[in-house]
Amino acid sequence: MRFDVITLFPAQFTALTEEGVVARALQRRIAEIHLRNPRDDTTDVHRSVDDRPYGGGPGMVMRYAPLRAAIEAARAEAAAAGVRSRVAYLSPQGERIHQAKIARISAAPGWVLIAGRYEGVDERLIEDCVDEEWSIGDYVLSGGELAAMVVMDAVIRLLPGALGHADSARQDSHANGLLDCPHYTRPETIADQRVPQVLLSGDHRAIERWRLQQALGRTWQRRPELLQERGMSDVEQQLLDDYLREASRSRPSVGAEQSEQ
Ligand SMILES: C[S@@+](CC[C@H](N)C(=O)[O-])C[C@H]1O[C@@H](n2cnc3c(N)ncnc32)[C@H](O)[C@@H]1O
Repeated sequence: MRFDVITLFPAQFTALTEEGVVARALQRRIAEIHLRNPRDDTTDVHRSVDDRPYGGGPGMVMRYAPLRAAIEAARAEAAAAGVRSRVAYLSPQGERIHQAKIARISAAPGWVLIAGRYEGVDERLIEDCVDEEWSIGDYVLSGGELAAMVVMDAVIRLLPGALGHADSARQDSHANGLLDCPHYTRPETIADQRVPQVLLSGDHRAIERWRLQQALGRTWQRRPELLQERGMSDVEQQLLDDYLREASRSRPSVGAEQSEQ
């Protein structure tokens, strides 16, 4: 999979490309990230990428021409490498990204990502060149670089071979509409807190059942709307009922909190 990122601040991407899961995936050629500075695609002496907004007001707007040239050059390079890329603009006004969307993004062979700055980009560029607009949440960042990194990290870790253990992405929060179960490692006891006995039992079916039950219970407590959207099988409903019965026995406020939501 290939990403071409159009950014005024390519150095920021070392956060992704030099360490961790994504860096390893790049080394193994599971994914490629190419960075392109639209300043390199300017033709004027000042190499200007932004200008004042028509109508006045604060801030600057990223100019159409350098961005269009950068997008076209990036798409041409991708095409020469056999990749047909779509174009996405990172924007707080875009479709809010969630895990199911990340999976759909990862199914495409390539994306050109535009990281905006200032007040954003000339609207006509979006009309002419952008296939999709993506938001990473309802807040405003200073630039699209972090948003592009968030999306690329979430996508690349899903690609086959990117994670050490093929199952880990399947068990993560949001992978199947649930939050993840709690995790523990050594030591077995910390002050008065012990690792749940079932995890020490070696009984894999019981462990799997416990993990599913915990995931259902947590999702119900923390993000009940996710469970509503997803639905539950009869077995899952029974596991959740048992979880809630047990939780209200040990912490009576658990049931009460939820019924207030
Ligand atoms: C300061 S913001 C511009 C915000 C714009 N004036 C607005 O209110 O819609 C600069 C750039 O940061 C990026 N950005 C900011 N918040 C974002 C978010 N929540 N998701 C994705 N990109 C974001 C976009 O690329 C945007 O062009």
